[in-house]
Amino acid sequence: MRILLLGAAGFIGTNLAIELSKNECNDITLVDRCDHYFSHINRLRLDNVGVKVSELSVDTNFDEVLEGQDVVYHLVSTTVPANSNKHISEELVSNIVLSSNVLDACVRCNVKKVVFISSGGAVYGKESTSPLSEIMPTNPISSYGIQKVAIENLLYLYRHVYGLDYRVVRLSNPYGPYQRPDGLLGAVSTFTYKALRNEVITVYGDGEVVRDFLFIDDAIKAIMKIASEESEYRTFNVGCGYGTSINDVIKTISTVLKTDLKVIYKEGRKSDVPVNYLNIKRYETLYGPLATVSLEEGIRQTAAFMKEYYCIDFVQ
Ligand SMILES: NC(=O)c1ccc[n+]([C@@H]2O[C@H](COP(=O)([O-])OP(=O)(O)OC[C@H]3O[C@@H](n4cnc5c(N)ncnc54)[C@H](O)[C@@H]3O)[C@@H](O)[C@H]2O)c1
Repeated sequence: MRILLLGAAGFIGTNLAIELSKNECNDITLVDRCDHYFSHINRLRLDNVGVKVSELSVDTNFDEVLEGQDVVYHLVSTTVPANSNKHISEELVSNIVLSSNVLDACVRCNVKKVVFISSGGAVYGKESTSPLSEIMPTNPISSYGIQKVAIENLLYLYRHVYGLDYRVVRLSNPYGPYQRPDGLLGAVSTFTYKALRNEVITVYGDGEVVRDFLFIDDAIKAIMKIASEESEYRTFNVGCGYGTSINDVIKTISTVLKTDLKVIYKEGRKSDVPVNYLNIKRYETLYGPLATVSLEEGIRQTAAFMKEYYCIDFVQ
């Protein structure tokens, strides 16, 4: 099968490419604007994975990019929740219009399926009560969430009008190897990295914000399962199904690494929903258990990866 990943050199794209490449029948192309992010995947020298450096924009000729592909994973997002709401109209153009252009090209190029990574953390907003299920209303409080909902709706439209098949993955908060520990996304990875380097951890708000944390291996298995199976549903929550506060994440990292962490608290961010965790019954009823790695074990594996990958000399 010919598989294309757009926005592929990042955290999810790298892990997804590694897993997809294990099937020798897959011929995988990764597209990303950032040459140096490809260093992770290039180091692995995977035979059936090719990379292309290209800045995707509303002016891109997507027919050239998509020609001959069977499945397209759409992982491009020009923003993250933390810096969303700063340039709302620009963000909507660069994500929604771009996605519409991608879908037009998918129709012309006879792509069989589009898999879109939406956000279980951003699409529901703060009005519904967790655990949040797929049938609950979507009221995002960030333009990041607005663009995700809009692209989900575009997928529905393109199926209705052109018969283009798709899956939407409303992903919670994945963490683990290859996540950039730069503090913009991913509390677990960022805090683990800082703890290993004995650096100060910054928490926005009082640390009682609750999130649904999922180890990346479980997330990737779920995404691939959703992409490959037929189902009456096209939209799936993917998370661990329960909430953990940021303060509890910090305690767990401290326990796993057997070290005290230096933490400072700063004013909370408006785009942060106070409590968010997902109802994952739809997935589990069809495909079985989703989260198989505990937070403790996930942190242990993330720390082991970071020590080796970033050559961190951490002594417990
Ligand atoms: N990581 C999470 O916590 C999380 C949770 C839910 C949903 N998602 C979604 O999953 C997708 C992938 O996330 P990730 O964590 O791998 O992010 P990431 O930042 O690690 O990777 C995204 C990649 O997309 C590339 N990219 C962005 N705009 C591009 C453009 N215009 N042209 C070409 N490449 C471009 C970036 O260079 C980057 O390598 C995103 O759509 C994100 O919104 C992520």
